[in-house]
Amino acid sequence: MIKLTQEDFQQRRDCLAVHMGPNSIAIIATSPVAYRNRDADYKFRADSSFYYLTGFAEPEAVAVIETFETADDYTYSLFCRERNREMEIWNGYRAGIDGAIEDYEADEAYAIDLLDEKIIEKLLNKARLYYRIGHNAEFDARVSQWIKQADTQQRRGDGSPSQILQLDRILDEMRLIKSAKEIEIMQAASVISAQAHTRAMHQVRPGMMEYALEAELNYVFGQHGCVPSYNSIVGGGANGCILHYVENNQPLKDGDLVLIDAACEYEYYASDITRTFPVNGKFSPEQKVLYEIVLKAQLAAIDAVRIGNSYREPHERAVRILTEGLAALGLLKGNVDELIETEAYRQFYMHGTGHWLGMDVHDVGSYKKDGEWRSYEAGMVVTVEPGLYIAPDDETVDKKWRGIGIRIEDDVVATEHGPLILTAEVVKTVTDIEHLMAQAQH
Ligand code: GLY
Ligand code: MN
Ligand code: MN
Repeated sequence: MIKLTQEDFQQRRDCLAVHMGPNSIAIIATSPVAYRNRDADYKFRADSSFYYLTGFAEPEAVAVIETFETADDYTYSLFCRERNREMEIWNGYRAGIDGAIEDYEADEAYAIDLLDEKIIEKLLNKARLYYRIGHNAEFDARVSQWIKQADTQQRRGDGSPSQILQLDRILDEMRLIKSAKEIEIMQAASVISAQAHTRAMHQVRPGMMEYALEAELNYVFGQHGCVPSYNSIVGGGANGCILHYVENNQPLKDGDLVLIDAACEYEYYASDITRTFPVNGKFSPEQKVLYEIVLKAQLAAIDAVRIGNSYREPHERAVRILTEGLAALGLLKGNVDELIETEAYRQFYMHGTGHWLGMDVHDVGSYKKDGEWRSYEAGMVVTVEPGLYIAPDDETVDKKWRGIGIRIEDDVVATEHGPLILTAEVVKTVTDIEHLMAQAQH
């Protein structure tokens, strides 16, 4: 399976150095280890931007990039845990100082414990400090302390950076445009996630618990060495109307739909898929008519993910089709343009139609430039995820509609050849879903 190589990480550092300009320093730390409860941590996952530049997955690590006279003259230092026989017996392998240089191609490597000491000399005489301000209050305080220390030295003749800049501005833009290799990795994540959804369609039965269906997804992710890229949503019936439902602890009922929003992360890249299907394999007339509206909206929105189109175009198309559908069924009353203008559709569709996707499920990158929605460029990846949610207690609508929640979500790349759907391998038409489920049930 496809993986990034040290050459890929180096190219990213080269690119960052050019953006930084001469005589600058960038400091970037990985995530802190997250405490779960007594003696138990959450499994460590490196910070996305740190990993993007280093490929280094161990905790307690900080990367420093320093440019000198010209931006292509730069040094990459990695501060990391030293090798330690006893600690490695308890907690596993560490690359150590030699590994940082040999395997991760750092120009300089130091024990993480030396960071406070070494960083001061690196800060002196630099014009600009690039730092990811605001991610970790504790690390922010340390950086402030370093600046203060460097300032103290300045009085003795050396200089400290006179400008502090938000490093995320550069990294987020770099991460927003995916390379061909990144797309290939995201495709791999999507294929595994699509298999997981297909398995869920096969395995679901009335009376099954939502968590048991979630386990079927996790089985597929785990078989590929993957973990979910966000907390899985498995909501039967009206639970499908709760946008961030993650309890997944109710029985799935005959006659209800189940909404699954779940996908895995592969090689640090996320996928994000939602499918909604009938627990008993057959859509009811009300479920089917609403489903067809959402699907029509989704297909139109996907078609709008085209280079040069506004980021917002898929949402606008989805909103129009959803509103037309709701009006045709009498769920909304009035003129479609006015219902859109007054956002009356928000009673049944209250979220956006997508978000950037990449190393983070809600990936980095601005949505607007100079106050205007930006346009799609080749290599941007976005989710397209319209839905309709009829609250179980909504007395403005006939009883037969209440408690139906539907969302359909795919991951789409803007390419020179139009929209490329990474998650196409899991079925989504009524006919295809019913056909697949009918095969599974005997
Ligand atoms: N699964 C998170 C989202 O769809 O935004
Ligand atoms: Mn999403
Ligand atoms: Mn999702």
